[in-house]
Amino acid sequence: MRTPYIIRIGAQKGGVGKTTIAVNLAVALKLMGYNTLLIDADSTNPSIGFHLGMENANMGTRAFATGKARIKDVVHVHAPTGLHVIPGVVSDKPYVPTAEQSRRFSKELRDSNYQFIIIDTQPGYMKADSMTRADLHLIVTMPNMESCASALRLAAEFDREGAKHSIGVNRIRNRAYELSLSEILEGYSGKVIGEFPEDESVPISIAEHIPSVLLNRRARFSKSAMRLAERIAIGLEPEQGRKTGGFFGWLLRLFQR
Ligand SMILES: Nc1ncnc2c1ncn2[C@@H]1O[C@H](COP(=O)(O)OP(=O)(O)O)[C@@H](O)[C@H]1O
Ligand SMILES: [Mg+2]
Repeated sequence: MRTPYIIRIGAQKGGVGKTTIAVNLAVALKLMGYNTLLIDADSTNPSIGFHLGMENANMGTRAFATGKARIKDVVHVHAPTGLHVIPGVVSDKPYVPTAEQSRRFSKELRDSNYQFIIIDTQPGYMKADSMTRADLHLIVTMPNMESCASALRLAAEFDREGAKHSIGVNRIRNRAYELSLSEILEGYSGKVIGEFPEDESVPISIAEHIPSVLLNRRARFSKSAMRLAERIAIGLEPEQGRKTGGFFGWLLRLFQR
């Protein structure tokens, strides 16, 4: 597996759980000892800050993506875990970097020494440019017709570009009216890499500004996020000496035992 391994979390629909999964996956990878960067590339409604208890910065992804700043200028450290985060900046206009800016953005990410880079995006689809040239596109859907139809359309776009994609199914309640996993797989050529239950620990953790995998690692959603992180990290060794995420990480894990 080449590093940094870049995972872009996307969906054409809003509110399906992209940000929740991006944040918990990034924190889970960091807790496993991987040098991880989380980027909020939702240029209209950046919300990673709410999940992590970090203020929206006045300089973040936009400055980096448009070439006004380097990674090191816009990276913030999530104190409890040591996770590196490039926050979004609230703006009334979405930005679309030029092809040249995208190339530079992508090159700086590729040249960095992160093992994993997780990019949270806004709903919709951005034509393939280097910002979307990820190693894996994780398409988030809910187990209903509307959301799955939209996920399959997005998968078809990625297929046309030869981009690798997998699906994460979120908010599973195991109700008869939901689409089952086998029904989803009937129309999908790729893999379902994550299954996440509907879980009250999610809104509770957002309200507390502490990601679910930190607040309650025994919660069903947290276990699913950890499982996804383990699946993704297969074959890659954590960085030596980074495992604890600092003193706070050690303390947090002690309390979570
Ligand atoms: N597995 C889940 N269980 C319960 N609530 C969830 C779950 N996943 C997401 N949510 C809720 O859904 C809302 C939208 O999630 P969010 O991650 O912001 O979606 P998106 O980034 O796709 O717009 C949030 O308020 C969150 O609390
Ligand atoms: Mg979001």
